Amino acid sequence: MEAILDKYKSTSLEDVKVWFKAASVSDFPNDGGACIKYKDKQIAVFNYTRKNKWYACQNVCPHKMEMVLSRGMIGDDKGTPKVACPLHKKTFSLENGENLNGDIPPIATYPVKIEGDNVFIGFAE
Ligand code: FES
Repeated sequence: MEAILDKYKSTSLEDVKVWFKAASVSDFPNDGGACIKYKDKQIAVFNYTRKNKWYACQNVCPHKMEMVLSRGMIGDDKGTPKVACPLHKKTFSLENGENLNGDIPPIATYPVKIEGDNVFIGFAE
């Protein structure tokens, strides 16, 4: 099961080598997420309209390895933007991937930039 997680590594802005054009801004629901594919990765992308921010993370939930995080609810935990897995409500920081209500492994997060009408996700490779 860990093999699934091995391909997801948190990427900081400084590490970005590829800006992948994911989709148009209008392809993402306000205050919600959608899943995109990059190489063999599924990436959940969130349009956090209320905060006027965008976030990206692995789509796989490390609790039961289900590809579901893009369908999770987004919200706020003491100022930290978070996503709640739709299956068992484990929550993760969208900033650093930390599991906020348990001790399961963090999720990988990725930088997002908007240029014109397009959403780009940053990857290290
Ligand atoms: S599979 Fe995500 S919380 Fe259980």
